[in-house]
Amino acid sequence: MDTPHMADFVCPVITIDGPTASGKGTVAHRVAKHLGFHYLDSGALYRLTALLAKQKGVSLDDESAIAALARVLPCRFVHGHVFLDEVDVTDAVRAEAVGVAASQIAVLPAVRQALVDLQVAFRYAPGLVADGRDMGTVIFPDATLKVFLTASAQARASRRYKQLIEKGIAANMEDLVKDLTERDARDSSRATAPLKPAPGAFILDTSAINAEQAVAQVLAWYAEAPKP
Ligand code: CDP
Repeated sequence: MDTPHMADFVCPVITIDGPTASGKGTVAHRVAKHLGFHYLDSGALYRLTALLAKQKGVSLDDESAIAALARVLPCRFVHGHVFLDEVDVTDAVRAEAVGVAASQIAVLPAVRQALVDLQVAFRYAPGLVADGRDMGTVIFPDATLKVFLTASAQARASRRYKQLIEKGIAANMEDLVKDLTERDARDSSRATAPLKPAPGAFILDTSAINAEQAVAQVLAWYAEAPKP
């Protein structure tokens, strides 16, 4: 009789994809906490790669040089903090400019490919909540539950505005709406892994509901989903 292999054990994954400032991060994080699952912030990997490229003076359109950085990304996630080499870059990676740079390098197929194994490695027992743009379409197509979280551009810009002001970072609504509309266009129109709902994804519009209600809806869908 065959002995079971670790690889035979498929643990549950909930994917939460959607545009910038749709509330994915908050919802994914809370759902993971509620279920005792691990949490993958895939956007952080694109942000870390962009930050590293900037630090090393690599041009943001040099696909092979950036893919080489991404393949051996020296990052660690410890208790909500993100480290690049030994430096705590938790705040630095969240800067708007780094988000914009992340969406520029995210169009490069070799960079996306270089980050696949790192993302898949986050799937281990008891389960994973993965937040991003292509979690349900590309990285975890066999996910237990796929959610596409969205909200109007106005609702998303005012959320992002509040977050920045709370952190003491100067922000301007007009610039934010412009940035996020441009980022949406770039994320949705790129040839590789464009932002779109995965087949079978549940769509959740958070324009008029709060994070708590969104979390409750995702947990209710998960409770109903067939488990692996
Ligand atoms: O928090 P926010 O939604 O602004 O950004 P993020 O999730 O940290 O992602 C930053 C950028 O990385 C996005 O604009 C996407 O271009 C890219 N990204 C991606 O292409 N695929 C993912 N799975 C996650 C992020």
